[in-house]
Amino acid sequence: MDAVVFEQWVQRSLSDVELALEGFVPADAPAGLGEAMRYSVLGGGKRLRALLALAACEAVLGQREAAMRAACAVELIHAYSLVHDDMPCMDDDVMRRGKPTTHVQYGEAQAMLAGDAMQALAFDVLTPDAGVEPALQARLCALLARAAGHAGMAGGQAIDLANVGKHIDECTLRDMHRRKTGQLLEASVMMGAASGRTDAKAWQALSQYGAALGLAFQVVDDILDVTQDSAVLGKTAGKDQDANKPTYVSVMGLDSARALAQQLRDEAHAALAASGLSGTAALAMLADMVVERES
Ligand code: IPE
Ligand code: IPE
Ligand code: MG
Ligand code: MG
Ligand code: MG
Repeated sequence: MDAVVFEQWVQRSLSDVELALEGFVPADAPAGLGEAMRYSVLGGGKRLRALLALAACEAVLGQREAAMRAACAVELIHAYSLVHDDMPCMDDDVMRRGKPTTHVQYGEAQAMLAGDAMQALAFDVLTPDAGVEPALQARLCALLARAAGHAGMAGGQAIDLANVGKHIDECTLRDMHRRKTGQLLEASVMMGAASGRTDAKAWQALSQYGAALGLAFQVVDDILDVTQDSAVLGKTAGKDQDANKPTYVSVMGLDSARALAQQLRDEAHAALAASGLSGTAALAMLADMVVERES
């Protein structure tokens, strides 16, 4: 797959995901809740998690309907995590995706509720009355729940807040990043993989790919927080240092963090090569995108 074909695939996938999310997120939820949900989810974000789910589905010749629902569900969980991450009781950020954060726009209570409702909606999206067989619905729910909950994203966010102002070693930092960010990215890949048939070797390889890419993603997020402008990021730059957060840059320095991101990209590529799957070109290019991204 050359760069032009990949870009066309990305654009087509992004518009399909946006359309599907438009349909799933209700405008008419009571008392302005729908408006706050739509503000938080629609029309912004790189949609990397959705792209991973769709690319993994294509690699295993999976069912598109299941993978599109997985793509939307993981974006809903991700958007909810951002709304809560930005609240004053967490990172206290005022800008997200180039707009005022949800609590700035709608107040803290509504932001909290929008996050709550988006989390529930994610599982609603995964359990339609028809179109995805019940065993696959259950599998997708389990993959997403484990990545989002206490052992994954929420647990990682707790570790993050518990370590403000503290020196932590690289092992603790790696564990925190894997949980708070890596697991949801890995789950995006595995949900796509679950939509088709895989043998144990391919499943294991895709899991290794997702884990390497997931960690690389947060290493790059830490780097960009230091090196990039707020206008390009669409969120406040320099936040980690201001808030005294341990990051890959503060623990190992910028050069080593950059080298680690490259090493993790190589690991992701090696895992795809070992998968025995032939249609992994988009997944490989998504790994490059994660490491080379500027926002
Ligand atoms: C930002 O994620 C939060 C982290 C997990 C580091 P993204 O950079 O994927 O955010 P959007 O979805 O593109 O806004
Ligand atoms: C957040 O990590 C990860 C989440 C689970 C939302 P960050 O706090 O570094 O994300 P940004 O930099 O605010 O996007
Ligand atoms: Mg945070
Ligand atoms: Mg934050
Ligand atoms: Mg960050």
